[in-house]
Amino acid sequence: MTTTVLDNIGLLVTNDPTVGEGILGIRRNASVVWQADQIVSVGAAGQLADRRIDAEGRCVLPGFVDSHTHLVFAGDRSDEFAARMAGRAYEAGGIRVSVEATRGATTSELQSLTELRRAEARRAGITTVEIKSGYGLDVANEARCLEIGRGFTADTTFLGAHVVPAEFEGRSDDYVHHVCTDMLQAALPYSRWIDCFCEVGAFDADQSRAVLQAGRDAGLGLRLHANQLGHGPGVQLAVEMGCASADHCTYLSDADIAALAGSDTVATFLPAADFSTRQPYPDARRVIDAGASVAIATNCNPGSSYTTSMSFCIAIAVRDMHMTLEEAVLAATAGGAKALRRSDIGAVKPGMRADLCMLDAPSYTHLVYRPGVPLVRRVFEGGK
Ligand code: NIG
Repeated sequence: MTTTVLDNIGLLVTNDPTVGEGILGIRRNASVVWQADQIVSVGAAGQLADRRIDAEGRCVLPGFVDSHTHLVFAGDRSDEFAARMAGRAYEAGGIRVSVEATRGATTSELQSLTELRRAEARRAGITTVEIKSGYGLDVANEARCLEIGRGFTADTTFLGAHVVPAEFEGRSDDYVHHVCTDMLQAALPYSRWIDCFCEVGAFDADQSRAVLQAGRDAGLGLRLHANQLGHGPGVQLAVEMGCASADHCTYLSDADIAALAGSDTVATFLPAADFSTRQPYPDARRVIDAGASVAIATNCNPGSSYTTSMSFCIAIAVRDMHMTLEEAVLAATAGGAKALRRSDIGAVKPGMRADLCMLDAPSYTHLVYRPGVPLVRRVFEGGK
């Protein structure tokens, strides 16, 4: 089988501290060889293979792992964003606007919208995406959105409990029951994970616990939207239920941080959502120093964070969340992989998927040093 070498890499981030400098396991003047979709060796520049690609001294990283997105939706909510920039607060209820548009779109429209967003994310260096449902909110539309998502990733997440849809207004417990029964059954064939938006204006702790429990009983892994718009029970619940990830974590008490640090639940920060909803940025330093695992994801969605730019998220994390450059790069790669409980991605070493992101820059520092500049030169996904 043909082997390929990416040679003459000026600075290679391996995320394997046993083979290189610091937490990113940095190697200089390096090369990576892969066969089919798997890395077979990482070494000094000059390794031999059937096919050679010259990185010409550029920086190469593991492809970004975007562990939180809502890529399947129709419609536009830029007017809501403009109103927020003029001082209006973000509200969970805006989700219903996207639900209406998504229900009204044909399957092929939704499919091509998702394809465009996935391609945009790839150009931004993202080689793995998680995709949530959450803009269907009835049995047929949740299943439809998840089936579409499945065409792009194995990491699909059933988010029927995103908000109470208009037809269940004032009957949120009935809706939760519906999510936990008929909707979950329809979603199961296309889902790996279940999630719930635990927040004022969406679902309370008991409702969220019921959703997570139903998902677990059905064999799904657990994730939770937690502590996005204010302090609340989400993070503690995520830890109690053994969620792989508590997402947002914008408002964290000392007790929340202690709970995360004593658990296997990854604190996934979504800085572009805080940017776009004018929330304060979380202090990631406190979370990291306490010993919790962290990830950064784009949260690409039409309401709170319409971006596929992981570089933008990294830049905010470094500039405003007190993460070092290295911590932010690690969180957007290995951190995302941990949040998805994936051991085949997020690092550059033998046996891992050949998912690589080459920057048009000598170092990952440029991701933050040159904000807003599309620095991703080339992306390899499974060696292609
Ligand atoms: O993760 N918080 C809940 N879900 C999305 C926002 C969805 C929307 O406003 O459409 C999020 O930010």
